Amino acid sequence: MTALKAAQRLHLLNAPGVSGAPRQVMGLSFPNSVGLAAGLDKNGEYIDALAALGFGFIEIGTVTPRPQPGNPRPRLFRLPEAEAIINRMGFNNRGVDYLLEQVARAEYRGVLGINIGKNFDTPVERAADDYLIGLRKVYAAASYVTVNISSPNTANLRQLQEGEALTALLAALKREQTDLAQRHGKYVPLAVKIAPDLSPEAVAAIAATLRELRLDAVIATNTTVSREGVAGLPGAGESGGLSGRPLTQRATAVVSQLSAALAGELPIIAVGGILSAEDAAAKLHAGASLVQIYSGLIYRGPALVAEVAAALRDLR
Ligand SMILES: Cc1cc2nc3c(=O)[nH]c(=O)nc-3n(C[C@H](O)[C@H](O)[C@H](O)COP(=O)(O)O)c2cc1C
Repeated sequence: MTALKAAQRLHLLNAPGVSGAPRQVMGLSFPNSVGLAAGLDKNGEYIDALAALGFGFIEIGTVTPRPQPGNPRPRLFRLPEAEAIINRMGFNNRGVDYLLEQVARAEYRGVLGINIGKNFDTPVERAADDYLIGLRKVYAAASYVTVNISSPNTANLRQLQEGEALTALLAALKREQTDLAQRHGKYVPLAVKIAPDLSPEAVAAIAATLRELRLDAVIATNTTVSREGVAGLPGAGESGGLSGRPLTQRATAVVSQLSAALAGELPIIAVGGILSAEDAAAKLHAGASLVQIYSGLIYRGPALVAEVAAALRDLR
């Protein structure tokens, strides 16, 4: 990331041939359909450098109200034989105020998502407080805001995807969004990011809540706690969330379930195991409007951005 930033500052990066079909999603204009998934630039320190790779949108964070160190190292493991990553970073970040300083310094004017979470020591019953702080603080700086309730590395966080807890949290955020839209004279869409480890019934229940409360988009999926596809490989026993190739089909299945349950009312942003143009095309066929990548960028390099953007352009 340091090298990437240096190269961009020396004008050595120039979005190598990324072309795409512009898209309107959530009321925003995307120059192409390929975004950077949350977690690579947690503090918004590399926005201009990442933009130079040709992404159609960039999601920074997860950011929490207060800075926190995350889990002790080692906390990130590559499983190259499986084109997979296991991470238990635990929302290491420098806090929302620092992130906003970085955003203010960036020259990027494209679509910027800001992904918000809760501090590890905020009890889950008080989670809404942290998300409300995050939403208020990032609102003016974000193109859209992602509510991350699906990281496996913050204790009890994923409980927020269930029943009453989900409804209460999203209703509070939706109310706040309405107030903020008035105050700022600008409507900033709210997306909710969900886990791949949900039953079809749980996905349907989430979809119903998102429709009822008029959320603006859903991002599917985060990393999985399953170890299917990596059993026996070095590193497979590490705790944390698994991403990359072993997640491809699971994430696509969740996109399909969402697509059926949402009936086109909310757009789906698909993420999880996209390592080729074909993987991305499968996500669109399953019902997604946009895609994001993380592990694919690690294993395939920046060329993947142009490859996927071109394939999705031709698909339309
Ligand atoms: C090291 C690492 C850190 C991540 N951190 C975050 C995060 O802070 N917030 C978040 O919503 N997702 C985070 N993710 C999940 C990714 O955004 C993405 O949903 C997941 O990795 C699946 O996509 P992929 O298979 O393309 O990597 C992280 C993933 C990795 C590998």
